[in-house]
Amino acid sequence: MSNLVEKLLCDNVKSLKPYESARRLFAAGTGETQQTWLNANESPYANEYDIESERFNRYPDCQPTAVINSYAAYSGVAPENTLVSRGADEGIELLIRAFCTPAKDAILICPPTYGMYAISAETFNVGVHKAPLNHDFSLDVPSICAYKDKVKLVFICSPNNPTGTTVDSSQLQQVVEHFADSALVVVDEAYIEFDWQSSWADQLATYPNLVILRTLSKAFALAGIRCGFTLAAPAVIQALLKVIAPYPIPEPVAQIASQALKASGIDRMQYQVTELNAQRSILKQQLTTISDVELVGDDKANFILFRCKQKQQLMQYLVDNHILIRDQSKQINLQNCLRITVGTAEQNQQLMDLIFSFFKQQESAQ
Ligand SMILES: Cc1ncc(COP(=O)(O)O)c(C=O)c1O
Repeated sequence: MSNLVEKLLCDNVKSLKPYESARRLFAAGTGETQQTWLNANESPYANEYDIESERFNRYPDCQPTAVINSYAAYSGVAPENTLVSRGADEGIELLIRAFCTPAKDAILICPPTYGMYAISAETFNVGVHKAPLNHDFSLDVPSICAYKDKVKLVFICSPNNPTGTTVDSSQLQQVVEHFADSALVVVDEAYIEFDWQSSWADQLATYPNLVILRTLSKAFALAGIRCGFTLAAPAVIQALLKVIAPYPIPEPVAQIASQALKASGIDRMQYQVTELNAQRSILKQQLTTISDVELVGDDKANFILFRCKQKQQLMQYLVDNHILIRDQSKQINLQNCLRITVGTAEQNQQLMDLIFSFFKQQESAQ
């Protein structure tokens, strides 16, 4: 690092390690070899959209009305409860920037969970407290509640990435009520379309300190356009609008999101979710036939988590054969765990053929 940069860099950024996103670990690039991407919980479907360029010379609306209205209707909330941002990741960042004072405030996370809550907080020099999930991946409610008045935001991911578990509704109720006058409880529902009935969106009117994060990146198959939503009380949305960029949603993104949120787009999404859920069951069933593989967590999202003691060699074998999955073994209580994103029937078969042949080779080497 140049001396000047070293001298100028914020202290908290000096020690920061960037989020190891699936794409940073393995860039998509333009390589000749076709990779099969089962490492980022993306949808395997690339759907088509129409783009009109006639407004490209104008700055876009900060909060495009058509997108806000259609997402609010889809979620059963009012437009005043809805904010659109560059992915749910930007929603996380806006919450931290609006509600946490650097070098003073802190957030609470419940690992093993999605990595960006902690990274976003660290980027803004905001503290991160941890109340790890219990061994069955339920919330440790007493530990969480002990952080009253010590945190401004409590992040709870449900369905949780990477465990695929949902939070028990009575546990969530206890937490939201406990922090009613001291913190916002942020329920990250990035994968909610895979377990729609567990959504807490209909509780927004009851709990003014409840915030819900959503995205078009998963079930809607639009990770590439970067479009997410925050659902919350109007006062929370107004606070986030103070810190959001002036033109966060590019015009093509607004056009694509509006089409995805039309009835036909929602029907297609639901059809694809049904297909992915069926594919997930087949994958799970096949994995259970391997004695060295132990399924971990639950299956309420578009991925499967499993443990095997040969995880390092298996990862390498798959990489060598151009299939990418995600190592989750650095997370608390997830020793030797790997996560597979559910792909198309063909991709899943390709993956399972390789996994079976890996374990066959292991067996014959013994
Ligand atoms: C739990 C969770 N929340 C949020 C995100 C980020 O979503 P987006 O692509 O909308 O930024 C992800 C992405 O993997 C995720 O797993």
